Amino acid sequence: MIWKSFENIIEPHTPEAERLARIDPERIPRHVAVIMDGNGRWAAARDLPRIEGHRAGAESVKEITETSVRLGVRYLTLYAFSVENWKRPQTEVNDLMRLLRRYVQEDLPTLMKHKIRLQALGRLNELDYKTRVLVEKAIHSSRDNTGLQLNIALNYSGRAELVDAMRALGRQCAGGELNPQMIDEADIDRHLYTAGIPEPDLLIRTSGEYRLSNFLLWQMAYTEFYFSPVLWPDFRKIHYFEAVIDFQQRERRFGGVKKA
Ligand code: IPE
Ligand code: IPE
Ligand code: MG
Repeated sequence: MIWKSFENIIEPHTPEAERLARIDPERIPRHVAVIMDGNGRWAAARDLPRIEGHRAGAESVKEITETSVRLGVRYLTLYAFSVENWKRPQTEVNDLMRLLRRYVQEDLPTLMKHKIRLQALGRLNELDYKTRVLVEKAIHSSRDNTGLQLNIALNYSGRAELVDAMRALGRQCAGGELNPQMIDEADIDRHLYTAGIPEPDLLIRTSGEYRLSNFLLWQMAYTEFYFSPVLWPDFRKIHYFEAVIDFQQRERRFGGVKKA
């Protein structure tokens, strides 16, 4: 049992164990999405270059991914690079791509060990060739894994995703395969990068920013939002547990009324 295995890695009578005990294993969010923010500020606070913040953030990625596996979360979607992030200095973009390449190469054995299936959301064709090939290779190697699905949002923009979906639907209409009058929400869903993935139950954004920054705009219509002041490189499983505890106290109504 995934849940049971936690007992080996969390010391009893620690703050982590106390939080974990408050989580209802029957109501774990199926899909958690994370806007990993605050790497630059973490580095600036230490007089370090921004890349050091991204490097430290990669450790949080590992911890939160592993914790997701152990909690029994089925889908974890991490916002790693937005379409708008190309506006950053070229050196930072290069550093981020280098870190990403290193991650998909060096961590592939760990992903395989935990039976994690990697997927990417975004316009991968606009990445440089080297990065794209390595990402696609890791996706391919892990495609038959049956555990956690780890979605990395890469060159992702919620609006660009909708544009891509509209173009695909437009082509089908022009080709006579689809009647515009018959287009429904399921048709749109099918053409998103997230086709086949259930909508996020919980969104976590770190670093005290309260915005979506173009993330999963269509998919988060009924997602529960959790904002943490902690900078991403400092975000640890105790913070994740707190987010899940908070989530479990929410009453999700989806526009209906409270259940009697
Ligand atoms: C998030 O940290 C990582 C990426 C967007 C790639 P930032 O780099 O945005 O850090 P801040 O927001 O400047 O502190
Ligand atoms: C959102 O963070 C994108 C990622 C985490 C990859 P940003 O730092 O780019 O967002 P803004 O600019 O603060 O909205
Ligand atoms: Mg930021």
